[in-house]
Parts: sequence; C-alpha cells; structure tokens
Amino acid sequence: MQKIKISPSILSADFSQLSLEIKKLEDAGADMIHVDVMDGHFVPNLTIGPPVIKSLRKHTNLIFDVHLMISPVHKYIESFSNAGADIITFHPEATESMHETIGLVKELKKKVGVSLNPQTPIDLVKDFLDKIDLVLVMSVHPGFGGQKFMPEVLSKIEDLSKLKKEKKLAFDIEVDGGIDFDNSKLVKKAGANILVSGTTIFKNNNGDIKKNIDALRTG
Ligand code: DX5
Ligand code: ZN
Repeated sequence: MQKIKISPSILSADFSQLSLEIKKLEDAGADMIHVDVMDGHFVPNLTIGPPVIKSLRKHTNLIFDVHLMISPVHKYIESFSNAGADIITFHPEATESMHETIGLVKELKKKVGVSLNPQTPIDLVKDFLDKIDLVLVMSVHPGFGGQKFMPEVLSKIEDLSKLKKEKKLAFDIEVDGGIDFDNSKLVKKAGANILVSGTTIFKNNNGDIKKNIDALRTG
C-alpha cells in the first residue's frame, strides 16, 4: 500500500489556543494541517479566514492543507496564498472557471486541489486530473465536523484510484469527513492516501492525539 498521510482538521481543536494545538499535532507526527474555511454561504457555517492562517504560519513549518468552502472562490485565492497556504483546495461549484482557478493557484506556486461533495460526480474533475495535485473526496456534506461517514463515496475513491493508475497520474486522493478507526481501513483500501480527521483525532482516547494519528495511519 502507498504511504498514508494524516491531515488533522483543526476545526475540532480548541480555537482559543490554536498555535498550541498545532504544536501538539506536530509533536504527534501529523503530516499536514487541514484548515477548513467556511463562508456561511457555500456551506451553512462560518469559520476562519486568511488572517488566522497568517498568524498560525509563524508557529509551524507543517504543510497548511487549506480546504476552501467559499463561493465565489476565485477572488480569494491570492489572499490565502499570501497568508501561507501550501495546498489550496476548492469546490468546482464555487468557481466560474475550473481552468482559471487551477491556473491561478499554480501561478502562485501552490499545490492545487479540487474537492468533490458526496453528490458531485468525478466527471467534474476528470479533465483536470493531469493538472492538479489532489482530489479531496468529501465523505460527509461539507459544513460541520462530527458527522457520520457516507460509505457510498467508497466507489468514487475506487474509481479515482483506477483512473490514476490507468493514466499513470500522480495526484493525491484525500478523504474528508467522519473518518474513524474502522472506515479508515476501507478508504485506504479503496485508494485514498491522505486522511483528514477532526473528531477522531481530537476527541477519541481522551484526546491522545499521537495514539489516534498512529491508529488512523497504520490501522
Ligand atoms: C467538513 C470539513 C471536515 C471536517 C472533518 O466540512 O471539511 O474537514 O472538519 O471533521 P470530522 O473528522 O469530525 O468529520
Ligand atoms: Zn475539510
């Protein structure tokens, strides 16, 4: 199996001490930090924006895996890049031109990801797979942490993995939403190589972050 990376979502962290939470994740062996950005419009919830990312940037060298759930997304890409995002992931429904938004992220020398909601078909990203770095498969409806994993997205991960092999492409397959110690095995088997997790990492085993990251990675 390919190397599995864990991207903890700070949506489940203590927002009053985010830099300390990130330090804990770093010490526990997290591969990157998943930052969920919500606008109360594209999704029915509000979280954080570029100033928070910028202030956290000085506290860690870990990759900032920024998941933009905002619409229209294009005009904000540069702000997130300037704030210190390393991977910028957006939803196809949030831009007028996938081509232009992918191009802009690349121009800014950042990695680019495209996220598919549970009901969004692979077709929307198919023609761009050779141009992007990552596909983020949502296994819940975006908007909130702590939701239940939707097993119907497993076939989408399998299909993407098949396409990746057939076309000899290198994009990462990341899965996000409701990941626990059981379904983590299923998504890895289906072909995902990056697992996002908020609730399981921060809340299980009395918040033993290292134990939880290790269990998601190797379990
Ligand atoms: C949902 C977010 C997820 C979420 C993951 O809209 O994109 O990243 O925070 O959290 P859990 O692991 O609690 O589902
Ligand atoms: Zn996310």
